[in-house]
Amino acid sequence: MPSSVRTALPASSPPPEAVAPLIRALAVLRALTAAGGRAAVSDLVHATGLARATVDRVLSTLAALGHVRAEGRDAVLAPGLLELGNAYLAATGLPDRLGPLADRLADALDESVSLAVPDGDGVRFVHQAIRRRAMSLAFRIGDLLPAERGAPGALFAADWGAAQWRRWRARRAADPADAGFPAVPQRGRDEAAEAGARRIAADFTARVAAARETGWSADDQLIEPGLIAVAVPVRAPAGEVVCAVSVVSHTSRHAALALPDAVLPRLRGTVAAMEDALGAPPAPAVGDADRPADGHLAAKRQLGPGFVASVARGLAVLTAFGPGREELTLAAVAGATGLPRATARRALITLTHLGYTESGDGRFRPTPKVLDLGFARLSGLTLPELARPHLAALAERVGDSASLAVLTTDGGDTVRYVAGVPGGRILSVTLPPGTRVPAHATAPGRVLLAGLSAAERAARLGGATAAGRAGLPALLDRVRTEGHALVDDELEAGLRSLAVPVHDRAGRVLAAVGVAGHAAGRPPRATASAVLPALRATAAAIEDEVRVAGRYLPLPVP
Ligand code: PHB
Repeated sequence: MPSSVRTALPASSPPPEAVAPLIRALAVLRALTAAGGRAAVSDLVHATGLARATVDRVLSTLAALGHVRAEGRDAVLAPGLLELGNAYLAATGLPDRLGPLADRLADALDESVSLAVPDGDGVRFVHQAIRRRAMSLAFRIGDLLPAERGAPGALFAADWGAAQWRRWRARRAADPADAGFPAVPQRGRDEAAEAGARRIAADFTARVAAARETGWSADDQLIEPGLIAVAVPVRAPAGEVVCAVSVVSHTSRHAALALPDAVLPRLRGTVAAMEDALGAPPAPAVGDADRPADGHLAAKRQLGPGFVASVARGLAVLTAFGPGREELTLAAVAGATGLPRATARRALITLTHLGYTESGDGRFRPTPKVLDLGFARLSGLTLPELARPHLAALAERVGDSASLAVLTTDGGDTVRYVAGVPGGRILSVTLPPGTRVPAHATAPGRVLLAGLSAAERAARLGGATAAGRAGLPALLDRVRTEGHALVDDELEAGLRSLAVPVHDRAGRVLAAVGVAGHAAGRPPRATASAVLPALRATAAAIEDEVRVAGRYLPLPVP
């Protein structure tokens, strides 16, 4: 397990009101994140210094909340954990309000554009519009940079006071190799690397002074060779810097010194539009669909023995924040979570002690450190990865193979299998991911076609005049009404396939989940009544996670 200075608990001891189980649960989540999102339970015991029984109890509580999953002897971060980071991101309003403007700038320049916020003496990414070419690394939402490496840090440090500079120097002294920043390419330990690190740190104060003077900052390969960037701060109406917008490129496209001239005019135009957007009245608080504390993910779980309620309550406090709920009083947190005031207060004291919330004027707000809880690790998540554990559970439950399929992007009558898990039977049917089959003739294909508008459907089916397709429109209408498709002799004689739709956050059909097996003399209706409930439950479980994970992540289907 990589050592990380940031997984250590704060040096000061917790206040007496702090909730010890919540502190332990957050330590387990940080250790699991530091391990790359997957760790043997024994490694978590070792990394946290907690007793085995404690780690087991924490993990089963986090599993019940959908934040981790058990896979054999390993614990794995689960997509439901993203709801904590989502709450922070939604509370800032930055990706919601400024993200579309950043995306437009990326399109206009054909370069990557990111939004980052100050986080202590670091810089945390909160939005990415990536046009990155093969040669450079891409940061993810939630990744943390040291302030002295990269363009935005010099802008943020322009406002630092003496205490923040002290803190920065102490961190540099304690962690000269940037081991506490796992997203940043690690420096070698040789002399040249150390000299490079010292030079970057020594130059930082000059770069900060220049940023203060000019209102922009450049990164000339401070992170890795070839990677260059220019950043400009975005100010709230009251004048304080809330984030920085960076345009990121590569020396193969622009000479480092030429990048500012090439992009600053447009970048400044975007920042002006962003500052206008921040001055506009906030969007009305978005519906409670994004509020698992109000009963979507969390309340649906079976809360088994060993469930530590104080952990669930403490984490629910984080999800009380959201759009239009950027900062909340204790009473508002209690009201939003349904927790007694004393319970909410102790949770907030604990979270503030650990740096996940901050308080002032009797109000609390989440900090970017919330994204340290697995967000960056999970933010590369693909739809097939999200679906796979659910398919495995389905295949195990029904004994037949389970798969996820999408329509191909070429606009034709074709479905592509993107994830599959074989059933337990000897004659199990598996289609390897990547397999393409005609959509109109297969159960997943029919479910996907049924989810399209009439025009899209007609375009995919190319007019559908062939004799075999004559009854297709009526058949697809029925699939749409019934919410499932069943096809006998699909792809081979005796093979029966049953599929249901998986919807995205907006209610569009995103994918189909299906089960395929041999009909084995069973009438179709018997198969449907035996398998449909499990299939629908699987689709619903995938949709729950898609709703959370798809809030700020693209969930690609590679
Ligand atoms: C990025 O968004 O990947 C990025 C931003 C600023 C930098 C380097 C990279 O200085």
